[in-house]
Amino acid sequence: MTRRDPADALVIFGITGDLARKMTLRSLYRLEKRRLLPARVIGVAAEDWSVEHLRKHARAAIGESGERIEAKVWHRLSRRLEYVGGDFGSPDTYDRLTAALGHCTNPVFYLETPPRLFSTVVGGLHSAGLLAGGQRIAVEKPFGHDLRSAKALAAELHRYVDESQLYRVDHFLGKLGLEEFLYLRFANTTLEPIWNRNYVSSVQITMAEPFGVQERGHFYDPVGALRDVVVNHLLQLLAAAAMEPPSAGDPGSLKDAKTAVLHSMTTAQPAQYVRGQYTGYRSIPGVAKGSDTETFAALRLEIDNWRWAGVPFFIRTGKRMPVRVTELRLVFQHAPRLPFLPRAHRRPEPSELTIRIDPHTGIRLGLDALRADIPGASGIDLDMTFDEAGGEGATPYEVLLHAALIGDSTRFTRQDIVEESWRVLGTLVSSPPPSVRYTPGTWGPKAADELLRANGGWRKPWLP
Ligand code: BG6
Repeated sequence: MTRRDPADALVIFGITGDLARKMTLRSLYRLEKRRLLPARVIGVAAEDWSVEHLRKHARAAIGESGERIEAKVWHRLSRRLEYVGGDFGSPDTYDRLTAALGHCTNPVFYLETPPRLFSTVVGGLHSAGLLAGGQRIAVEKPFGHDLRSAKALAAELHRYVDESQLYRVDHFLGKLGLEEFLYLRFANTTLEPIWNRNYVSSVQITMAEPFGVQERGHFYDPVGALRDVVVNHLLQLLAAAAMEPPSAGDPGSLKDAKTAVLHSMTTAQPAQYVRGQYTGYRSIPGVAKGSDTETFAALRLEIDNWRWAGVPFFIRTGKRMPVRVTELRLVFQHAPRLPFLPRAHRRPEPSELTIRIDPHTGIRLGLDALRADIPGASGIDLDMTFDEAGGEGATPYEVLLHAALIGDSTRFTRQDIVEESWRVLGTLVSSPPPSVRYTPGTWGPKAADELLRANGGWRKPWLP
């Protein structure tokens, strides 16, 4: 057996939890539909459930996720599901898991548990001899809450397994939009010559969500926007946009290219970090009285390398924004005035190239144009929305679960990327400015606009 062998079982720790209910069970169904699941799917959790209970729960969860359940597919999936209940700290649980695994020799273990249980579970698997063949373990974020804790968590896990066995899940890496973006970026030689500081004046990344944190107060309040989505999802997006072409096709080379970008980044400054909290947040159950947690973050980052020195990268994200949209926008440099064209009485606006990741992937080129039907020059947009043309693809968790099952680590993050990300944001985490209120349904506090005063302000996102 090698580490790249397809898995013969999937073992999910924490199958009774929220993430499984909302994401994993649906992904299992979709993988089953495509006949991509291994023979056994074994859920492990502390609850005293029977396998019938798990099946009932799974069917309800898949239905609630909006998936249309086909009887035949469900029948196949439900027969695969098994359940082992028990305390994660008890050797007995791992003995029963070993018995359930029977002849399976290459299971993938997926830990959907709070990180404080990671080393208990991995230690339990190790003591039971279930990791002796270099088996893969997929783990969910968060990977620490700062650089120190991220290192400590990794050190705990590395007592039992090496980094190549760890498939660190950042579900943004499973988005097909990100893959489409990388393809566009590197498959078109027209883009490469302008993809640098000679042409780009700034980069804006926006991830806006219209909903709040309603039922997630307990989880969200100790975390906040910076730790929830910036240090992982949005730095991954930034790294994909800014990296050099990876030197080879193996997963490590792609990760090396991302690490190199993060390594060139200077430490973010609290003076260029705006934290916002929407009014009403403090009355959500689970949120501390007088909480200062940010539900909105806007920041400026710099990459001090040959391609990007001097080009600010701005990131903003927030809950209770006007719409759901995630996009990355290159704002190009201004052209000079055009005195030889009499009707062009203003300086042209800079061109912009926008890649939208959510809710529908697409590319938009914004140019300045002179049109006979409009007096003077104006902006025009050339748009292409991909999923209208190509239909709905696999969901991120479906993509990642499948990748873990076949042993392809390309779409998983790595400890050095995690550590560099915490390093870049370290000062923002240790010395955050106070958060300011903003009205739900707006684009966050006014102070966020100040960050871009010299860069033409935040562009209105390309709305679906
Ligand atoms: C999660 C965050 O990691 O990503 C959530 O914890 C956020 O707060 C979510 O809403 C966004 O993911 P997606 O795929 O819906 O854009």
